[in-house]
Amino acid sequence: MKYGHFDDSKKEYVITSPKTPLPWINYLGCESFFSLISNTGGGYSFYKDAKLLRLTRYRYNNVPYDNNGRYFYIKDNGVTWNPGWQPTQTELDSYSCRHGLGYTIFESSKNDLAASVTAFVPIGDNCEINKLTLKNNGSSDKNIDIFSYIEFCLWNAVDDASNFQRNLNTGEVEIEPGVIYHKTEYRERRNHYAVYGVNAPVAGFDTDRETFLGAYRSPSDPEVVEKGAATNKVASGWSPIGSFQLKATLKPGEEVSYVFVLGYIENPKEEKWEALNVINKKRAHEMLERYNTTEKADVAFKALCDYWTNLLGKYTLETEDDKLCRMVNIWNQYQCMVTFNMSRSASYYESGMGRGMGFRDSSQDLLGFVHLIPDKARERIIDIASTQFEDGSAYHQYQPLTKTGNMDIGSGFNDDPLWLIAGTSAYIRETGDFSILDEMVPFDNKVELAKPLMEHLRRSFNFFDNAKGPHKLTLIGRADWNDCLNLNCFSDTPGESFQTTGPSEGPVAESVFIAGMYVKYGNEYADLCEHTGLNDEAKEVRAKVAEMYKAVTTAGWDGEWFVRAYDANSNPVGSKVCEEGQIFIEPQGMCVMAGIGVEEGLAQKALDSVKERLDTKYGIVLLQPPYQRYHLELGEISSYPPGYKENAGIFCHNNPWISIAETVIGRGNRAFEIYKKTCPAYTEDISDIHRAEPYAYAQMIAGKDAANFGEAKNSWLTGTAAWTFTNVSQHILGVRPHLDGLIVDPCIPDTIKEMTITRHFRGNIYKIHVNNAAGSQKGIKKMTVNGKEIEGTLIPFEANQGTVEVEAVM
Ligand code: BGC
Ligand code: NOJ
Repeated sequence: MKYGHFDDSKKEYVITSPKTPLPWINYLGCESFFSLISNTGGGYSFYKDAKLLRLTRYRYNNVPYDNNGRYFYIKDNGVTWNPGWQPTQTELDSYSCRHGLGYTIFESSKNDLAASVTAFVPIGDNCEINKLTLKNNGSSDKNIDIFSYIEFCLWNAVDDASNFQRNLNTGEVEIEPGVIYHKTEYRERRNHYAVYGVNAPVAGFDTDRETFLGAYRSPSDPEVVEKGAATNKVASGWSPIGSFQLKATLKPGEEVSYVFVLGYIENPKEEKWEALNVINKKRAHEMLERYNTTEKADVAFKALCDYWTNLLGKYTLETEDDKLCRMVNIWNQYQCMVTFNMSRSASYYESGMGRGMGFRDSSQDLLGFVHLIPDKARERIIDIASTQFEDGSAYHQYQPLTKTGNMDIGSGFNDDPLWLIAGTSAYIRETGDFSILDEMVPFDNKVELAKPLMEHLRRSFNFFDNAKGPHKLTLIGRADWNDCLNLNCFSDTPGESFQTTGPSEGPVAESVFIAGMYVKYGNEYADLCEHTGLNDEAKEVRAKVAEMYKAVTTAGWDGEWFVRAYDANSNPVGSKVCEEGQIFIEPQGMCVMAGIGVEEGLAQKALDSVKERLDTKYGIVLLQPPYQRYHLELGEISSYPPGYKENAGIFCHNNPWISIAETVIGRGNRAFEIYKKTCPAYTEDISDIHRAEPYAYAQMIAGKDAANFGEAKNSWLTGTAAWTFTNVSQHILGVRPHLDGLIVDPCIPDTIKEMTITRHFRGNIYKIHVNNAAGSQKGIKKMTVNGKEIEGTLIPFEANQGTVEVEAVM
């Protein structure tokens, strides 16, 4: 069952019922100002950091679900409704919500009155614009009251949700005609305030929540709206809100538009005040002036659309399969931008109060983002590397605003260092910009400890010189990619953090997954050494990699698949000798992606085992059989009921690893089958089962051992976005950046007979036409570049070629 449809020409998903199984959200903003917006107008806004600079309040875990957002109450002839249906939930005569790239449009109607709301964050500015248009489609005049509503957050979202003894006293606002300034804490240490304005004369305003809603009432039926008259109350403490009342008289056929702006303003310290406790509003006035007509708002909207058209033009696919095209050309890349911006901080499942940017998460997000805006990727790499410690380990997370590591989680996740190599290597392969390696980058955010980025990568790799266990495999530390495999944790006390309990280091517990990473990213590091004249170092690195390869194919091989790990007692995890958790997905994917066991036939065996033991109709589960009881020696993984999350859920992030691994051994049909199983566009028809957005990947789909098999959770912020895009664009479609140029080596299902990929790469535009009339799954028989035949699959890079015509025959 579906709740809407894709509109590919507009690059939108059109939701046609407000009662989706879960709130289906979109992200506005792709620079510094961000908003989450659901298909009923719910969500919140923040500047740069969802924890520290939150503009509007959102209540997670609320009943009813998703109740707080930017709302417009329309009161027409005694009936009050919202264009997004919430919060009044008045039945609408028609409703649609179009989630587009960086914008959302509601189009609804009730009793011959049509409303549309276009919500977006303009490029280059720190505000959310809501353009509201009302049109009288009836045959008599209408006198309409409009009430807008937002609820301010007192900036620090954690305090805001907990420190009420203070918070209920600090709230302050200032008012001008048609403008509300939220200035809580501005009198003390903040140099920023929020501005909320509308470009038309208002009949009144409200700024105090309780006055607006009425005692013991909720946004579903505010007293002020019921009475039809704003109170003009100036908030003092309690909970400041922003609400305007507007009055419109519309003749039949007549329409009116208003532009509402919610903005973030920062003043230089010396320019904070206009007079005693009167804030300096100059920048706010300028901002409101930029959007004070519908024409200006429309121009900004058009600029946003052009921005996205241009970005997405960097990789486009034309082929018969619509679903594949819409994922490759639109939604997967879009989600890569969102994950790049948000890491794992703010979604409807990540409260924006916990994790900031994750070291491993953001490093992997780069893989799917780097082709879009390489300069931003460069900056991110430097930020991430700055949180590395001198021994090569790293802070696991950092706050986007301060860009410094989070002490409370600290370090000790031993996969982290290698992901830095992954991200940097992807950046250089994309751009050819080796100069990044010379960039001076602090350790532990201390400038005095700065060393060239190359030294950071070196220490990432060499970290394992002193971090190998009894089987010569890499030590796991607190955890590797699967941060629920806590082999040094041994937690038996409720509420203890699995992430930080126990020693971060143990001399014994080893990860075969990290060993696979060591081989893959060790080789990529060696490539960088060779390209920068460090040939001796490259040799040393390859020798260490070869030793690890050996350890993986011996101690790390279980006979039919790769072992997952060795625990703190050196017992295998993910082995046939285990009672539960005999086979795990991660080492099968990572080791084969690293090329381990391909020649020896182990790779194919491992992937066949995955198919036999882990595959389901909705995707590949993380492990089998699931843990039925809590294992002290394994940690959080065994805390989840069977089938959920890391305990045998379909953890979408690692499905593309298996798909890529299949391309390594040339099985295009299987690679594509795996790709499709978790791909939103292909599962749109089962939205009632899947329940999450059909245009974005979710972190997890409940596995076959769960009661709700097939139900997705944790949509949007997942490394799945970057890895599925890497998989489909570079490995299945096969257009892959290399340090020396562009590789064209598709591994596709035999049903794709023809395709054209347009790839912008280092200033050239490659138009790659692939002819697969032969119905092959892998292998280029012949390739011509601008008419000249070349050997192999690598198109060597030459600058300033303009458009390059590539013809590849499989
Ligand atoms: C989740 C993991 C997540 C971790 C982060 C765990 O509870 O299961 O998926 O990465 O928390 O803190
Ligand atoms: C989600 C986390 O964000 C990520 O860092 C981790 O790798 C996966 N969960 C797997 O546990």
